[in-house]
Amino acid sequence: MRIMSVVGARPQFVKLAPIAKAVVDASHEHVIVHTGQHYDPMLSDVFFRDLDIPAPDAHLGVGSGSHGVQTGAILAQMDEVLERFRPDTVLVYGDTNSTLAAALSATKLHFPVAHLEAGLRSFNRDMPEEHNRVLTDHAADLCLAPTQVAMGHLAAEGLAARSVLVGDVMTDVLYQVRDAVAQRNGPHPLVGEAEPGNYYLATIHRAENTDAPDRLRQIVDALAAADRPVILLAHPRVRAKAAEHGISLDAGALQTRDPLPYPELIAAARTSAGIVTDSGGLQKEAFLLRVPGTTVRRETEWVETVELGWNVLANTAEEIAAALTRTPPAPTNASPYGDGHAAARAVGAIEDAFGR
Ligand code: UD1
Repeated sequence: MRIMSVVGARPQFVKLAPIAKAVVDASHEHVIVHTGQHYDPMLSDVFFRDLDIPAPDAHLGVGSGSHGVQTGAILAQMDEVLERFRPDTVLVYGDTNSTLAAALSATKLHFPVAHLEAGLRSFNRDMPEEHNRVLTDHAADLCLAPTQVAMGHLAAEGLAARSVLVGDVMTDVLYQVRDAVAQRNGPHPLVGEAEPGNYYLATIHRAENTDAPDRLRQIVDALAAADRPVILLAHPRVRAKAAEHGISLDAGALQTRDPLPYPELIAAARTSAGIVTDSGGLQKEAFLLRVPGTTVRRETEWVETVELGWNVLANTAEEIAAALTRTPPAPTNASPYGDGHAAARAVGAIEDAFGR
């Protein structure tokens, strides 16, 4: 089979890594299309390099823009790319504008679409990602769900017949990188910036947290008042919005630095005293590394992390302070995100659905 993966943003490159390996292991042909939604080397190239992902076969170079401009720029180029490669399946990942655009163009041209990380829901219609997920799931011919909860959401929307539980592919990568990082003897990724075990690692980038000045100021003030140094790995969006709103990202306990490549991110996360984030991936990585997580959002798609006590939703300065200093959660052996072999299962499900 010829499987086409369409990716564009940082978390999709992480998910692509185990899929790329599983596609080759199953002796299929893999065509990788990079939309160019993320183009900074630290948000794109370093992931291909560190996670051994083959170079893309096509690069659309769409760059940044409003939702319509970005989605439309991808749509405008995908017809030609699909006709050129004529894949047996188009695999789309997660919930970004690249996901929706690729799903829509493939559906219109009658190429079978599989959606990886299907069925996640926040039920918050203010989030652009929520629309991208729901629309992509309903356009897709095959919904590859990471969790039982996601399977339940798909069933509730009438999509049970085309849904398969495969597990979470980010767990596949995390386990591999965690073990590799634990064995190496290199310097700590934050050497000279923070003491291992005595810092919180933070990422904040979502529109709902960065775009309104009051909201961003409240989060920054809460992190500046933390009881330990907070190392903020700043996505370009939070830097741009903080500058626009006149908010300093270096204040009190808060120290800001550039994002880290994936292995260094995992090395920094596993030796932190806690993780503060609005990223879906990092919430889960905190849980999988058994580091207490604090999620600066009103809801999460990864509800298992909260139910098991490893993640707390916190929005006000008081809630964030209380979450950071809470008693560590009870140990657990629960594995709601699978066994680290989700990618092979996803490729198997694609073969079953569309293999000839
Ligand atoms: C996107 C996804 C989000 C995902 C995140 C991962 C959508 C709607 N959102 O958000 O779900 O969690 O990726 O990081 O698709 N920018 C740069 N360099 C880049 C890319 C972006 O400077 O390489 C800046 C630009 O100012 C841009 C802004 O970041 O306007 C936002 O980028 P965009 O791709 O629209 O969304 P993200 O916030 O990255």
